[in-house]
Amino acid sequence: MYSQQETVKLQKLTDTLLQQTKSSSFKTDELNELRDVLRFHEYRYYILNDPLLSDFEYDSLYKQLEKIETENPDLIISSSPTQRVAKGLTKDFPTVQHLVPMLSLENSYDAEDLLDWDRKARELTDLETIEYCVEPKFDGASISLIYEDDFLIRGATRGDGVEGDDITTNIRQIRSVPLSAKFSSYGIQQIEIRGEVLMTKKNFKKYNDLLAEQNLPPLANPRNSAAGSLRIKDPKEVSRRNLEAFLYHVSYYTNTDGQPNIDGRGSMTDDRHETTNIDQPSSTNALLTHSGSLEMLWNLGFRSPQKEKKVLKGIQSVIDYCHDFENMRDDLPYEIDGMVIKVNEIALQEKMGMTTHHPRWAIAFKFKARQATTKLRGVEFQVGRTGAVTPVAKLDPVAIGGVTVSSISIHNEEYIKEKDLKINDSVLIERAGDVIPQIVKSLPELRTGDEKEITFPKHCPVCKSELAKEEEEAVWRCINIECPAQVVERIIHFASKDAMDIRSFGDANVRKFFELGFLKDIPGIYELPFDKIGTMEGFGEKSISNLKSAIEASKQQPLHRLIYALGIRFVGETTGKVLANAIDYLPDFKNKSLEELQNLEDIGPKVAGSISKFFQVPDNIIMLQKLEELGLNLRSSRNAATQGGNLDGYTFLFTGTLTKLKRSEAEEMVEKNGGKLLSGVSSKLSYLIVGEDAGSKLEKAKKITSIKILSEQEFIQLMNG
Ligand code: IVH
Repeated sequence: MYSQQETVKLQKLTDTLLQQTKSSSFKTDELNELRDVLRFHEYRYYILNDPLLSDFEYDSLYKQLEKIETENPDLIISSSPTQRVAKGLTKDFPTVQHLVPMLSLENSYDAEDLLDWDRKARELTDLETIEYCVEPKFDGASISLIYEDDFLIRGATRGDGVEGDDITTNIRQIRSVPLSAKFSSYGIQQIEIRGEVLMTKKNFKKYNDLLAEQNLPPLANPRNSAAGSLRIKDPKEVSRRNLEAFLYHVSYYTNTDGQPNIDGRGSMTDDRHETTNIDQPSSTNALLTHSGSLEMLWNLGFRSPQKEKKVLKGIQSVIDYCHDFENMRDDLPYEIDGMVIKVNEIALQEKMGMTTHHPRWAIAFKFKARQATTKLRGVEFQVGRTGAVTPVAKLDPVAIGGVTVSSISIHNEEYIKEKDLKINDSVLIERAGDVIPQIVKSLPELRTGDEKEITFPKHCPVCKSELAKEEEEAVWRCINIECPAQVVERIIHFASKDAMDIRSFGDANVRKFFELGFLKDIPGIYELPFDKIGTMEGFGEKSISNLKSAIEASKQQPLHRLIYALGIRFVGETTGKVLANAIDYLPDFKNKSLEELQNLEDIGPKVAGSISKFFQVPDNIIMLQKLEELGLNLRSSRNAATQGGNLDGYTFLFTGTLTKLKRSEAEEMVEKNGGKLLSGVSSKLSYLIVGEDAGSKLEKAKKITSIKILSEQEFIQLMNG
């Protein structure tokens, strides 16, 4: 998309524009330059995953453009980077017709199926060997985009294949979809392209964490969340979900001379769709092969599977490539559920044609399913650290994706109703990658009459006190904060990896010590009777010493971890950081008003109310004092970070694998000492810290003489002053 020369030029321009951030006068040329520069950096970030700027620098350029456009509204154009963000809510999604119906794919499940399919393909084409293009089968929601005169004019869902919903406003929120692309340089005036909208595994996890913080049930898989996100009426919320799009198929285009070229690809056995065969004009040579069209899309700034695809001759190498990809499925940042094999030459595709359901020139190779059906045999009710009573379905054990699943959370009463779950039902379950297994749906058509309703208890299954449900909440709670189930869950949460990270102090040990009376509350972690523990089976000298040092080390955890560890309702890791940055000494929160709390970033009335409630409970303040006496850190490091820790003014970036420190620890050290983290190599970078197997970032940094390159050891020395 951008040549080396253009990249260097745009990067220089970026530096110039960054330096003049504060100037208010501008020339029209500069406005275009600013847009070009922002588009270039969006491409580096969203398409190449290789940014050259920090988020902060990008934001300052974006704000510069926004300011100029606000002051000069007549200069706004629809393809400006600022114009993705829509104002207001979408009323509805009108039904629109696809230029060419969106067909499905035939499925294959093993090498034999592919050998059969290849045999048929060779018969149909009269060829000995066929050239195929093989690419991932993205597991998301399919979309179809239309560009006219180089501008995105429409985005639609698949719908029934003939008609879909017009979701243009939502599509514009997806940063990897260019708002304009130079199709005219390929002689194309109008084009319809197909692809898949996805949520990466990382963003999916983040999104589910957010739902969990609000006590909402998680989504079963990234596919459902991508599909659901496309139908949200608030485009800003769509933008927040950070969706991505892969574009993999050109279904229709007209040339700048007005000639249409339809995805007939030969005669169909269905007379619904008349097809036209028109010779390819020379200006669209790129579109003579499928791989050529992927390359064209890539060159125009789309995220096509250009890097993932492979052109292969003969079916055996195709089978091998499919297996290779299946083996690294879990290492990909997004979900795929198989591979798609396409006859590469478009002329051959036309010769082979299609059925009413699928093209004959393509087939999906489906990976081993991560779904299975089993029976729901009963429900257990568990009490969490906030007293929430969660029903857990007990299943006939079933293996999915190498793991045996025998129980699954079914969240709350509403969820049970929504999914229509009954005891003895057959249920479809799914384990998507590293996502916790979920029930996708019940299968009422398989009911025999032996099914029983799931009834919710009226009393806490542990302490027997009456359960309560707040208005507008789906969750029943045990409101006895002394309830042993809650206490033990609070301790487990406190010690957990993302909280105080006390290794070798997992669920099982906490429960054991609690049952034996060695541990009654959170401060008790720091006063464990090691003399007694040492006499227990399974606790040798080594494990005791590991546990002691992990507990000791946790005393130095930064304040934001402690805040998160306290398990205050609605306070997740992000809110923990906001709170730690807002105060010097933790107990001071008891003097903060609701209003003051709500003025903090991303803290609404519900979260503020919960924080305030926590700090008004005298026992909680006593617990904090006790923790401080025991040597825990209740003070924020925010001052060190903002008022000149010894790294103030320096920027850092890590690359490769660190062996002595965890990446998150190293980054925390930088921030604690007042340094700033960057996400890419640029002239703004002061230090690049190089771990094992460092790659392109190191090469790039070597070319910029002002960057200091340090080993992990040198970095540690620098941190130690
Ligand atoms: S090609 C006319 N390529 O899988 C051919 N489809 O199960 C159009 N899909 O409806 C489809 N990745 O939504 C194609 N690389 C890929 C794909 C892909 C995912 C989806 C697509 C299709 C469904 C069929």
